[in-house]
Amino acid sequence: MALYSEKVMEHFLQPRNVGVIENADGVGEVGNAKCGDIMKMYLKIDDDIITDVKFETFGCASAIASSSMATELIKGQRVEDAMKLTNKAVAEALDGLPAYKMHCSVLAEEAIQSALEDYNSKKIK
Ligand code: FES
Repeated sequence: MALYSEKVMEHFLQPRNVGVIENADGVGEVGNAKCGDIMKMYLKIDDDIITDVKFETFGCASAIASSSMATELIKGQRVEDAMKLTNKAVAEALDGLPAYKMHCSVLAEEAIQSALEDYNSKKIK
């Protein structure tokens, strides 16, 4: 069996939503100390709906595929629904990740959480 699903390979080779959003409403950056990979998420939010999302990932194939899939999953969602996105849902949408690569999908979940927290904290001010 191939190590990676076709979906992982497709999102790794042609990642969706790569880039930066200037004046983003929420920005989150997280890293994994063990592997050294870093992921940054930018959110554009109008009326509590995520209208645009972009990412920059300096990491492995699974981290890039996970970020790409995660951005597709939350685009158009309400903030409160995007908060519930789990790394498991990201991995499932990719038709699975090898067990030792599950932490790469955790990075995507954490990056989105962090960007949403940034948005929420700015909203309160
Ligand atoms: Fe670290 Fe994939 S090996 S995020």
